[in-house]
Amino acid sequence: MAFDLERTEKEFLSSLREIRTRDELENLRIKYFGRKRGILTKIASSLPLLSLKEKKILGPIFNHLKGELRQSLKERESDLSSASPKSTKEIQQKPLTSSLLFDPTAPGKEVFTGHQNPVISVIEEIKEIFHYLGFTYIDGPEVDLDLYNFQKLRIGKDHPARDTQQTYYLNDEVVLRTHTSSMQVRYMETHKPPIRVLFPGRTFRRDPVDATHLPSFYQIEGLLVDNDSSMTDLIGTLDFVIKRFFGSKTKTRVYGHYFPYTEPSIEVEVLHKNGKWMEILGAGMVHPEVLKNGRIDPRKYRGWAFGMGPERMAMLKYGINDIRLFYNGDLRFINQF
Ligand code: DAH
Repeated sequence: MAFDLERTEKEFLSSLREIRTRDELENLRIKYFGRKRGILTKIASSLPLLSLKEKKILGPIFNHLKGELRQSLKERESDLSSASPKSTKEIQQKPLTSSLLFDPTAPGKEVFTGHQNPVISVIEEIKEIFHYLGFTYIDGPEVDLDLYNFQKLRIGKDHPARDTQQTYYLNDEVVLRTHTSSMQVRYMETHKPPIRVLFPGRTFRRDPVDATHLPSFYQIEGLLVDNDSSMTDLIGTLDFVIKRFFGSKTKTRVYGHYFPYTEPSIEVEVLHKNGKWMEILGAGMVHPEVLKNGRIDPRKYRGWAFGMGPERMAMLKYGINDIRLFYNGDLRFINQF
């Protein structure tokens, strides 16, 4: 390009700022707009020599610039003839071309958008994998009745299973849910089989804070009810999901466990890089009484359920060794995700 619109504009504006008299102003006008040797006139006459592509970009910019410069000349003129001329500082400081010249090859400006917490990413990813298997998902109340959190899951008032779930009681009947299993009966009460649903959400326990415990953490509950679900189906599904999530070579193991609301019950562990097995979920066949509590006939239907811990899964997947890192708001941590 034989001319530099940006520089032309800058030079014009700085000369304009120096002008004190009408004569000086007229000289400037001739220098830029003179019929034969005006700088802008010369540019205008060289425009037709440009390539079509350049013409398309520079033509409109040039015309706009010319109009603007002419306008600033006029403003300066009327300013000089008025009683109290504007201080030169007030004359347009911002160059026009910087906003007009669009360079499509310039690197973009970085926009700060924040980062997703890895626990939320895990939840989203698990939702997506289960979506592929035909599951929907739904939110549920974090403050729930003892009835749904415990009793309808066969955990009576004096059941020893309550000891392992250090509960925040708001009063005798209302608790902060200790697990997302609280959603199982709630959901069954209002939905007919076949059921395939996830309940992701926050849960609460009076656990002292350390590297693996927090008083509030997430769970993803899953529930399936239909007429021919089975334990092998459950284990196969979990294995599929875990391999999708952690990678196809992931080693898992399953062993028998006890939960009052499933029979039989299992836990699943995943082999960590450090050689240790880490428990990531509990599961089992929904207990017939729990189905009944959800107004589903256990002679017609069977179901399975599981509850997994996304914090633990994120720790395993990303090699994080302290659960507190997820929630202490340290940008050096969160910006890595
Ligand atoms: N609620 C259990 C917990 O918080 C996890 C769990 C176990 C959920 C078995 C289930 C299940 O749905 O079937 O540790």
